[in-house]
Amino acid sequence: MIDSDALVDAARRAREYAIAPYSSFKVGAALLTRDGRVIGGCNVENASYGLTMCAERVALLKALSEGEREFAMIAVVADTDAPTPPCGPCRQLLWEYCGDIPVVLANLHRVAGRHQMKELLPLPFDGRLLK
Ligand code: THU
Repeated sequence: MIDSDALVDAARRAREYAIAPYSSFKVGAALLTRDGRVIGGCNVENASYGLTMCAERVALLKALSEGEREFAMIAVVADTDAPTPPCGPCRQLLWEYCGDIPVVLANLHRVAGRHQMKELLPLPFDGRLLK
């Protein structure tokens, strides 16, 4: 099983593929499955702006579309001093599909923050409320 430093390195590598011509803000994410698989994602922007997909959601949707359902951790990397936490829509989907996993935030040189999903999305709306 890989550790959080290795997951951060995978997110840094995923960031290399970011398509961010409009914001120039390149983000990489790496999602660790419970059985040790690492799935990377980068942000993908487009001319409509609004259809931009964040790195976290790209990684999550890749993983789900390949049959992965159990997740252990996610790392998010941007080239900034301050940590780059997942946006609201990403938090909603990460909560629904990954639950209370650790979220490791890093830049190109160091880890800048560690959180739990529960802390990032207090009082979540989720499937339990639909029953
Ligand atoms: N972005 C991510 O990919 N993940 C985040 O956690 C924050 C924002 C992207 C979306 C957009 O392409 C760019 O960063 C600027 O918002």
